[in-house]
Amino acid sequence: MSTFPQGFLWGTATAAHQVEGNNTTSDWWHIEHIKPPVVAEPSGDACDSFHRYPEDIAIIKSLGLNAYRFSIEWARIEPEDNFFSQAMIDHYRAMIVETIKAGLEPVITLQHFTLPQWFRTSGGWQRSDAAEIFTRYVEKVIPILDGVKRVVTINEPNIYAGILAAQAGVQGKGFLPQPRPEDVQGLIAAHRAAVNILKLKTQLDVGWSVANLLLLPADPSAEEKARELSHIYDDQFIEVSRADDFIGVQSYSVTFTNSAGEIVLPEGYIPTDMGYAYLPDAVGRAIRYVNDKAPGLPIFVTENGCSSHDDVLRQEYLRGALEAVASCIAEGRDVRGYFHWSLLDNFEWAAGYKQKFGLVDCDRTTFVRTPKPSAYLYKELVQHYSR
Ligand code: GCO
Repeated sequence: MSTFPQGFLWGTATAAHQVEGNNTTSDWWHIEHIKPPVVAEPSGDACDSFHRYPEDIAIIKSLGLNAYRFSIEWARIEPEDNFFSQAMIDHYRAMIVETIKAGLEPVITLQHFTLPQWFRTSGGWQRSDAAEIFTRYVEKVIPILDGVKRVVTINEPNIYAGILAAQAGVQGKGFLPQPRPEDVQGLIAAHRAAVNILKLKTQLDVGWSVANLLLLPADPSAEEKARELSHIYDDQFIEVSRADDFIGVQSYSVTFTNSAGEIVLPEGYIPTDMGYAYLPDAVGRAIRYVNDKAPGLPIFVTENGCSSHDDVLRQEYLRGALEAVASCIAEGRDVRGYFHWSLLDNFEWAAGYKQKFGLVDCDRTTFVRTPKPSAYLYKELVQHYSR
């Protein structure tokens, strides 16, 4: 009998800004066009998933998966303060319907790293009314969530707060700077307000998705530092999830710190193209870490993947990752889904298109999608684990 529970969600994940293209009313579009450039390249047309989402959904279905995690874009739905575009709301409804028609469960993220530019320039999460403004958007989206079961409010608040600090000029030590408490408070308040309204008005299960950095000491002198940084980067965000229906766990690797709090890659580890330690079983460590900190809280692995030009490495990573998830479940840990990051090679934020996280290649000019061997391996592994 399968180790994986009945109804386990097998999926892939994307985020609107990274695949849709032409998200011109967002803060990221603005950041991408700052001169001299502060990011590798602009997102441009991305994978044109704004128009080609039916093709994306058909690919996910053809891989034998049963779920798709994607985000809806606040910047498109509310391009100006308090103007809500019905056409864009309808667009995301059509996408949800297409997903459900394909027999896939849509898992919807309400905010994935991007903001409407007007909200950002007027203070963003540090506005005193940020939670109300976010909730106003969430309320507009509620009517299109019919048929959806699970919603992620905010993606990776911990990494995101680090990105906001970096964009404000705070320096990191070989990594993103530490989140600023003002941003963290703003994000927590917005999350809680969104959860409240969704629980009041819908039957949805609601949570947020937290990147698990899993800080480890690079050497014995760094143990104290690793504990301190774990609280700042991981634990305070896991803590917030305890009041939710589930937690989304996102894992790529583990993170090593020295006693000065600098993030380092100890000798003996192979770096992925992102420079993280290549660790296929990282997701298992992340699940155990989160499950021990928040016992009883259902876990969905909402992202896990590996940036590499070498698809053979991705295949090995995927095998190791699913074995790790299987052993966590065998230990009795409540894991209910696994979403591979990502469906497509896409716009990897400041790093641009050179990072390859996709199971599927996307030609940057023709937008032709070509599944890689790792995509077919995923299909086989899901069949194997579902038996
Ligand atoms: C994140 C985001 C994704 C990234 C992915 C790879 O987790 O940082 O959710 O948008 O693309 O993690 O870095």
